[in-house]
Amino acid sequence: MDSTSIPAVTISAIGQHNDSEIQLNGWVQNKRENKGLAFIILRDGTGFCQCVASEQELGEDEFKKTKDLTLESSVRISGKVKKDERQIGGYELQVTGIEVIQIAQDYPISKKAHGVDFLLDKRHLWLRSKRQWAIMRVRNQVIYSIHNFFQSRGYVQMDAPIFTGNACEGTTNLFETDFFDQPAYLSQSGQLYGEAMAMAMGKIYTFGPTFRAEKSKTRRHLSEFWMIEPEMAFYNLEMTMDVIEDFLQSVIGDVLQNCSFELEVLERDVTKLKAALNPFVRLTYKDAVAILKGEKEVNGKRSIDLLTEDLNKAKDRLSELNNEIEETEAALKKGGIKKGKVVRMEQSLQNWRAEKAELEEAIRNIPVWIQSAENFVDGNDFGGSDETVITRMFDTPVMVFNWPKIIKAFYMKEVDEDPTLVKGVDVLAPEGYGEIVGGGERETDIDVLIDSIKKHDLPMSEFEWYLDLRRYGSVPHAGFGLGLERLITWICKIHHLREAIPFPRLMGRLLP
Ligand code: 4AD
Ligand code: MG
Repeated sequence: MDSTSIPAVTISAIGQHNDSEIQLNGWVQNKRENKGLAFIILRDGTGFCQCVASEQELGEDEFKKTKDLTLESSVRISGKVKKDERQIGGYELQVTGIEVIQIAQDYPISKKAHGVDFLLDKRHLWLRSKRQWAIMRVRNQVIYSIHNFFQSRGYVQMDAPIFTGNACEGTTNLFETDFFDQPAYLSQSGQLYGEAMAMAMGKIYTFGPTFRAEKSKTRRHLSEFWMIEPEMAFYNLEMTMDVIEDFLQSVIGDVLQNCSFELEVLERDVTKLKAALNPFVRLTYKDAVAILKGEKEVNGKRSIDLLTEDLNKAKDRLSELNNEIEETEAALKKGGIKKGKVVRMEQSLQNWRAEKAELEEAIRNIPVWIQSAENFVDGNDFGGSDETVITRMFDTPVMVFNWPKIIKAFYMKEVDEDPTLVKGVDVLAPEGYGEIVGGGERETDIDVLIDSIKKHDLPMSEFEWYLDLRRYGSVPHAGFGLGLERLITWICKIHHLREAIPFPRLMGRLLP
């Protein structure tokens, strides 16, 4: 067959070709055979499509090609598009011809469960799997929406340098490198450069890679991540909190609207995301501490009581689950059940075991959280579990502002009525995700700033250029930084930041 005469289309556009013959270019994601029929799930990057090849229709020779197809083999498949609501994507291809491009030998990622280290070693291939595909598509939408939000509001995008001579966020997690025999640091934040550009442009945003040499392995930290840092001249803390809320809601709204299939693949409960479209909760650090420690109620509830309730519910559900699992296992062992039912029972077992693992984790964690909440020392920074407890009290993200000066960066503006506090804000995402944004109003008083630089033990000479911004036309200004992977991780409800970036860089991982 002359395949060139048949139009090649993408799976995403297949609906425009119902009942006509087209060609799909892609990879075999799955294959199943049954009595002279082969069912091939083809993926082409834009979507997934079931292609049905019939020996009777194709003839013995052409059909034989389907036998050779292995997972991830590359093919061109021609066929007639048929609407079929039951199929993934709503269409099916009735195969008229197959052209094999390459047969993949022993594709290493199979349908069985793999450990995460194995998958990370095979990240270059893992990206093809359906979940990873969905996450990367959400990432793409988020990036697009971020640019769209700022561009449509008159912000100018700027690129901050990657090699930097001074620290922005403290000196503890800098990557040092050699810059023509002079020490340089990989950028921790583009903020200080963003401030300079804001004085030239009014409103700017950076969108670039950021590096932090955190020597701990947590699910919330990457060594290399992407940060978006808007900076606005003549803005104060309140105005910045308004921008943050508007910004995050706009991005989440776009994802809900344009990534419904991806969110379905990820089994994301979208009601949790929709809740974030309501006004965010705004708390001072002081109130957040009181809520954390159970000294202040939210909707008539103390944090400690709510956590205890969660713990008891988890225990009840776990014993219920254990019974279900036990009974089903026993029934399967006994046998005599129809094949179709066995498949369904095994599927249920798999789901229950996953839920069980989650419950067991919660039952281990909650008592630790309660204790750490009760013992929290006012004035300290929140740890991951503290953030989880605070956000547990609300459905929307929580903005915590007016922080103790000593735990925040040198550039934060003092609160007029209380100079032990600064006008910083952290946005905490719900469902245990914690800080996704850090920002606030910047110090404009050059003397206060010089004093802070000294107190933070930073080399004054390297900040002279920054101090110029306060010498020549200093104005109130503010901004924030969003950790791209933190936002994606929460939107997709994935466990670890490493799945939110194509090729993660973390301690112990530089390849692939
Ligand atoms: O809170 P951070 O350190 O704030 C700044 O860097 C400011 N200069 C931002 C500004 O005001 N322009 O970092 C901002 C955000 C955090 O809220 C978090 O989402 C993310 O960056 N982040 C990380 N993401 C992944 N891995 C890490 N190691 C991260 N460290 C911070
Ligand atoms: Mg922070």
